[in-house]
This record gives sequence, C-alpha cells and structure tokens, in this order.
Amino acid sequence: MGIELLVNLSYVAAAVLFIFGLKMLGSPATARKGNLVSALGMFIAVVITLLDQSIIDYKWIIAGIIVGGLIGATIARRVEMTGMPEMVALFNGFGGVASLLVGWAALYGFEANTFEMITIILSILIGGVTFSGSMVAWGKLSERISGKPMVFGGQRVFNILLIAAIIAASVMFTVYPEAHIYLYVVIGLALLLGIMLVIPIGGADMPVVISLLNSYSGLAACAAGLAINNIILIVAGALVGASGIILTQIMCKAMNRSLSNVLFSGFSAVATGGTAAKIEGEAKPMTAEDAYYVLEAAASVVIVPGYGMAVAQAQHVVKELQELLEKNGAEVVYAIHPVAGRMPGHMNVLLAEADVSYDLLLEMDAVNPRMETFDVAIVIGANDVVNPAAREMEGSPIYGMPVINVDMARNVFVMKRSMASGFAGIDNPLFFKENTRMLFGDAKEMLGNIIKAFS
Ligand code: TAP
Repeated sequence: MGIELLVNLSYVAAAVLFIFGLKMLGSPATARKGNLVSALGMFIAVVITLLDQSIIDYKWIIAGIIVGGLIGATIARRVEMTGMPEMVALFNGFGGVASLLVGWAALYGFEANTFEMITIILSILIGGVTFSGSMVAWGKLSERISGKPMVFGGQRVFNILLIAAIIAASVMFTVYPEAHIYLYVVIGLALLLGIMLVIPIGGADMPVVISLLNSYSGLAACAAGLAINNIILIVAGALVGASGIILTQIMCKAMNRSLSNVLFSGFSAVATGGTAAKIEGEAKPMTAEDAYYVLEAAASVVIVPGYGMAVAQAQHVVKELQELLEKNGAEVVYAIHPVAGRMPGHMNVLLAEADVSYDLLLEMDAVNPRMETFDVAIVIGANDVVNPAAREMEGSPIYGMPVINVDMARNVFVMKRSMASGFAGIDNPLFFKENTRMLFGDAKEMLGNIIKAFS
C-alpha cells in the first residue's frame, strides 16, 4: 500500500471518529465517550501527519508538542469551572493564529495558483480576525479590560472602510503575490478588524461571541486545510465551523436575541434603556426549618439551578437533598434552562460532577407544561432564567425570552443571598409572588441547613 493511500485512509478513519465523537457529545450519557472517540481521531490525524514525507526536521515539532502540551495541561488542571469560557476564548484565539501561520507558511515552497492564493488569504484573514477578536473577548471576560461596549461616532463607517481596505489589499496580493507588503497589510488590518468587531459588544454577551469565534476558528482551519491541501484539516475545520454556529444560534434563541442584536447593539445598552416598570411588593423570607416542613410533605419537587449554584459550589449538597427527598417518597427532577449559568451546559457539568442521574435532568420545554403539578419548585441561585417578567411584562428587556415557569408551581422557594438582580440586571417579580418564599443566604449553607433539619 502506498504511503499516500495509507495517509488518506487514516484521515477518513479520523474524520469518521470526529463525526461519531460529535454525535456522542450531544447526550450527557455518551459525552465522555464522545470526547475520547474524538481525541482518538485527533491522535490518528496527528500521528499520520507526522509521517508526511515532506517534513524535513522534527526538532521544532517535538519542542512545540512538549512546550504546548505542558502549558495546556497545566492551565486545564488549574482552571476553575467558572473560568472555562475564558479558556475557550484563548483556545479559539490560538487556533486562529495557527491557521494564520499555516496560511502564511503555505506561501513558501510552491507556486500557488489563484484558488490556492484565495484560500491562503482567507486562512490568514479569518485566522487574524479570530485571534485578535478572541483576545479582546478573553480580556473582557476576565475583566482585564472593561466589559462595557466601546463605541464611538462613525464606528460602522470605519469598519466598512476597514473591510474595503482588506478586500483591496487581498486582491492586490492575489494579483502580485511577490509583493509581500500587501500580505502584511492584510494581516495588520485583519487583526484590527477582530478588535473592532468585538469591542462594541458588552462583556455580558461574550459567551455568545466566543461561540461565534469558535466557529470562525473552524473556518480559518478549513481555509488553511484547502491552502495546504490537507483533507483532515478541511473536515475538522468544517465540523468546528458548523457546530460553533449551531451553538451560537441555540444560545441566541435561549436568550431571546438575534445574532445581529448581540453583535451590533450591546445588551447593556438595551438593558439600561429598557422601559420595564419598577416592580414593587414585599418579599416573604422563610427559614430553612420552615422550608423543611413544606418539603417533608411534598410529593413532587422540581429543582431549578442557576449561576448561584455554581458560585456556591452547591451541587453536592443539592444531590444530598435530592436523595433525602426521594427517601421520603417524593419525586425529584431538575429543570435545566439552556443558558442557566455562564456557559453552555454549565449546570449539566456541575450536576454530573455530583453524580446526579442524567434521566432526572429535564429541559425547559419538557418541564414547563407540567409545572402546575409540582408541590415545590426550589430555585437555587437562578434569577433571569426563572423571571416571569419574560412572560408578563411587555417592555422588559427580557420580554419574550423563554424561561422556566416556576411561578406556576404550588410553592416556590428561592435561594439567593439578597434581592440583587442577576446577569441581565433587571428586577424579578417572582420574588413578590403570593406562592414564593425567599431563603436568603449562600445556597450551599442554606441547603445544608435544610438537610440538617431532615436528619
Ligand atoms: P443569574 O440571572 O445571573 O442569577 C444568578 C443569581 O445567583 C443572582 O441573582 C445571585 O443573587 C445568586 N447567587 C450568586 N451567588 C450565590 C450564592 N453563593 N448562593 C446563592 N445565590 C447566589 O443566573 P441564571 O438564572 O443562571 O441566568 C443566567 C444568565 O446568564 C442569563 O441572563 C443568561 O442569558 C446569561 N448568560 C448565560 C450564558 C450561558 S451560555 N449559560 C451565556 C451568556 C449569558 P444574590 O447576589 O442575591 O445571591
């Protein structure tokens, strides 16, 4: 068998493993295995690529693998769960710059035809935008730079001129490939465009932006794959590009926003200019002991976790309470909102860490129709995702956003430390409803107190 055939067959096997791995990532029950299957695909792809006859020196490759591997492993071990979006932003950025460098390197060593020149330019351009955009997103998320949308007069005109200049320089470079000055102009302007595209977006919307940049990094890799005629890079890039854009759409839908709204009109600007009426009323606090008496008599309980559960690291005590309630004869399920927390799947990951069975996690659409049947809905550090203003208050910045309708349960217990608003910065009429009781305090402590009362 010729080496080329072996390489191509291995790439096909790797591509198949990527696709099956992705499919398995779609369900919590198979996600771990899916990750391993995809990693095996990537391992095969890397090993086979290293067999390439045109590699003339392995020294730098080995040094890169060792240094990169060590840095990656150290960061991955240290990162807090709440810091994952920042880490993904960095990964995307480095993926982008890798595509930029691959595209750039492809200019050397062979005569590129027009199609190859276009793919080279695209990988450099998209890679550059992805890199600088991801760095700004990382800076905003980690609060190294202000999370406020940065806007100035004439910004859109400036961006349009910038894009026109990039197109002009790209065309010039395709026509005169020996004039590298055009290439440097494209690289510089692409980096500037990445910054310009992300600075007007509020820090609050960064998770959506990161998902979009993830998609860009895939497109950049795909273009780089076309530039160097590497099948597996084209396939992997296309898969990342497509899944990134699907995830972006899911997040936008769950936040009741359009992608253009996220990209072109920072949410905070919308939120501060919102016309939501001030919500007034009296919240009714209750003690852990009183909560215990109601829960002890409950036959069905729905637990709705949110960002506060992640902050309090309350997932293990939540599981303990679930077991006590079940022992007491109650049915317990969890209702998971697609954007609860601060990253996709945030609640699923935390609850999986506490070994909560996947079958008990119900999606919003499955749980809302039977909300009236629950004796108690326990809201643990969630706020926006259970805000009935999304249903009831036209003019609220979140009006129309799909939420978990906990207010329709017979009793609602809300665990949070204060009356403070959540991520969207808006009041929540749930706290003043007739059937709502507030359990003020840290979620982990409060759950611990209820558990104590049980035993
Ligand atoms: P939020 O609306 O942000 O509310 C979290 C609540 O947790 C806060 O009101 C806070 O109230 C409480 N809290 C914080 N620390 C706590 C602790 N130690 N113990 C108990 N409570 C605590 O969270 P959510 O309901 O999960 O909604 C998520 C929000 O993030 C949505 O607006 C969503 O659009 C946005 N978002 C999500 C994503 C993804 S992908 N998940 C991405 C971007 C944006 P106190 O301060 O009073 O305790």
